[in-house]
Formats: sequence, C-alpha cells, structure tokens
Amino acid sequence: MARFFIEGGRRLSGEVDISGAKNSALPIIAAALVTDKRVVLKNVPDVFDVRTMIELVTHLGAHVEFRRNTLTIHTPRVKRVEAPYDIVTRMRASYYVLGALVARNRRATVAMPGGCAIGPRPIDLHIKGLTALGTKIDISDGYIHADARHLQGQNVDLQGPKGTSVGATINVMLAACCARGTTVISPAAAEPEVLDVANFLCALGVEINGQGSHEITVRGCDTFNDNVRYSIIPDRIEAGTFAVAAAITRSRILIKRAVSEHMTSVLEKLREIGVVVRETHNGISVNGRGRRHATDIFVAPYPGFPTDMQAQFMALLSTVPGTSTIKESIFENRFMQANELMRMGANITIEGDTAVIKGVKMLSGTQLMASDLRASSALVLAGLSAKGITVVRRIYHLDRGYEKFEVKLRRLGARIRRGK
Ligand code: UD1
Repeated sequence: MARFFIEGGRRLSGEVDISGAKNSALPIIAAALVTDKRVVLKNVPDVFDVRTMIELVTHLGAHVEFRRNTLTIHTPRVKRVEAPYDIVTRMRASYYVLGALVARNRRATVAMPGGCAIGPRPIDLHIKGLTALGTKIDISDGYIHADARHLQGQNVDLQGPKGTSVGATINVMLAACCARGTTVISPAAAEPEVLDVANFLCALGVEINGQGSHEITVRGCDTFNDNVRYSIIPDRIEAGTFAVAAAITRSRILIKRAVSEHMTSVLEKLREIGVVVRETHNGISVNGRGRRHATDIFVAPYPGFPTDMQAQFMALLSTVPGTSTIKESIFENRFMQANELMRMGANITIEGDTAVIKGVKMLSGTQLMASDLRASSALVLAGLSAKGITVVRRIYHLDRGYEKFEVKLRRLGARIRRGK
C-alpha cells in the first residue's frame, strides 16, 4: 500500500496552482444526469472520488470522456436507476444521484451510505426534503427506494440539529429542477459549492434564485439548454491546505487561483496567528515567516470556519507558542489526527468537542497512519515541518480529494515522495 516519505524542515517557495473543487465537481457530475443534452465540464479535479462518480454515472447510462480536467458527459437515456452498494460504500457523495435520478426518471434506488470515520452521518434531511416534494421513500434491504410519480414544488425546511445540510440542499435542488412549480429551500446551505451547483443548473436553463444565501428558490423546468460548458470553481480547501503548508514551514508562497472571498474565515485565522496573507490579481500570497500567536477556532457552517480545514490548523497550532483551542461543532469524531500528531510530540488534549493545543517548539518525524481525507493532509503538513523523516500510511484517503498533492508540494521545494 502506498505511503508518503517526507523529509521535514525545508522551506517552501514559488507558486502552486489550485485545482477545481472536489465538493462541487461530484454533485455537478451527478447533476448532469438530469439532462439528455451533452455537457462539458472544465476544471474537474482528477481525484479518486471524481473517478468513482464517473464510474457511477457510467453505470447508470452516461457516456463520459475525461481528459486533462475536462469532462464531457452525455446521457441520452438512463439505463439503470440503482446506485449499488459497492460504489456508494466507497464514497458517500454517491447519494447525489438520488436527487438527479428522481428528477430525470422519477425513480431511484440508492444504497444507504452509512456512517464513516468522522462520525455518524445521517441522511434524514435528504429524505425529509425529497418527501416534501412528493417522493415516496422506502428504506429496505439497505437501500433507499424513491418513487416520485408526482414531483411537486414545495416549501422545504432543512433545519437539522447541526444546522442545515450541504448534501440535502443539493439533493433537493436537483429534484426540484424537474418538479412542477416552485420549491423554496429554507434554511439552505450557503457553501460556495452549493452556489456552484446552482449556477451549473442555471446554465442548463433552470431558474434558481437566492443561491449563496439561506433561502434558495428553484422553478422546475422540462427542457434544458444545448451545448452547456461550465467551469468548476477552485477548491477552497486545497487552497487553505497550501496556505497552512506555507504557515507551518514558515515559508512564502503564491497560491494561484485561490478565491479569497470563499476563504474569509480561514484567512482571518491565519492573520490572527501572525501569517501575512495578501490578495493578488490571481490568487493569494502567504508569508509564514513572522512571529506567531495562539488562537481559538470555532468550526461552523459557511461563512464560518470550515470543518474540512480544522485538522490542518490543528497541525499548525501544534507548533505555535501558547494555548489554542478548536471547537468542532459539525462532526462528532473529527479529531482523529490528534493522536497521530501527539505521536510526533504535539501536546493536545481532547475535551468533548474541543481540542486544547499547547504549542511545542518542534514536532518530530515518525510513522503515521492516515484516517480520513483531511486528517491525511494534516499529517503531511506536520511532516513538512517536523525534524527528521515522517512516513504517512494509508494515503489512499488523501488521493480521494487532493490532485497531485505531493507533486505540487515537490514543485514548491518540499522533500516528499510516494513509495511502498
Ligand atoms: C459536505 C462535504 C464535507 C463537509 C461537510 C460540511 C461534500 C461531498 N462533502 O458533506 O466535505 O465536511 O459538507 O461542510 O460536499 N446532517 C444531518 N442530517 C442529514 C444530513 C446532515 O443531521 O440528513 C448533519 C451531519 O451529520 C453534520 C451536519 O448536518 O453534522 C452537516 O452535514 P452536511 O452539510 O450534510 O455534510 P455533507 O453534505 O455530508
């Protein structure tokens, strides 16, 4: 099984190009199933999860070509309406075909996604939203069976115990784009990836308003535009991860194509820590050479601090003098990187949903095990700053969401290689 070998302690310099957002690309590829017209998607990141989504939509009947980050998808006819367990179990985001198939074929059977390493991940809001539009949902044999003969626009309340949901907002938008009448989703998730999916549906010809706010209105339609070409937004989490790479190695780099307005809370925290961040005409420059200070992070839905950046900041704060805290309010079991960081010498205590991090002078390289996507990148970042050699195992987690991560780091001067 592949591992990363990292020789820490080297400064980074130069420029890095940010790929398209994985969390936009996955629902947008699924969304392309709603139309029988050919769609061309640009800036699609070549990561494992995207390959899995391509496998899934191909299984359902789509013709897909994927070359150099451009994906052409054409589904003249949906051949199957079942998303099988062996694909859904590899990637939770497979559930986006539920909304798309309900829209296109009025029927779908999708394996229940189940929990995952970062804690229980219910889908009650997806079901509540689709049911509100008139879909009959039956859960049996580990599958969600959806039957939507009379799909009707409605007011959909997606308030859950942890706020609203990115995935449920997108699934309801997908189903609503082929429903009769108007759907109002409130509260809706306002993440940039939700906005991106809505903008793609608008390019197809669906009338959507309010995307990017907490109330989204979708007017259903039955014909779609020809020759749609759409470019996926840059990945704000990848950009944030490289910003932390510069901060933790006390380096100065240019992160090209990073969209600073999608990263406000992350950039604010970096500045609070003492990192100099400047917006440039085509991205952001990050300088981590100055004096650094501890901080407190509260994870929250967008525009709050993203849960997908908390592991990387834990690695950084482990090396920043003073006591910092991270409160994770979205996922229950998302501090798995903490134990591995402690094996590198970090001083971290977990108290319920809060991690207390006392900065140490230096981490030291050792053998580490990655547990999920973002935790993996946190361990690599820690390895870049650590003394000696760090070996990170199970990097298939990282390959799910970062395109050419080690190649991009090497171009910046990092000593990292992939090996057995
Ligand atoms: C998406 C992102 C993930 C990110 C997360 C939060 C993708 C493919 N994944 O995941 O990287 O970490 O947003 O920004 O885009 N919840 C319910 N019931 C539901 C659905 C969710 O209670 O039906 C809860 C979840 O357990 C969690 C919270 O709502 O506590 C937010 O989850 P959600 O926004 O749905 O995350 P995902 O869409 O799964």
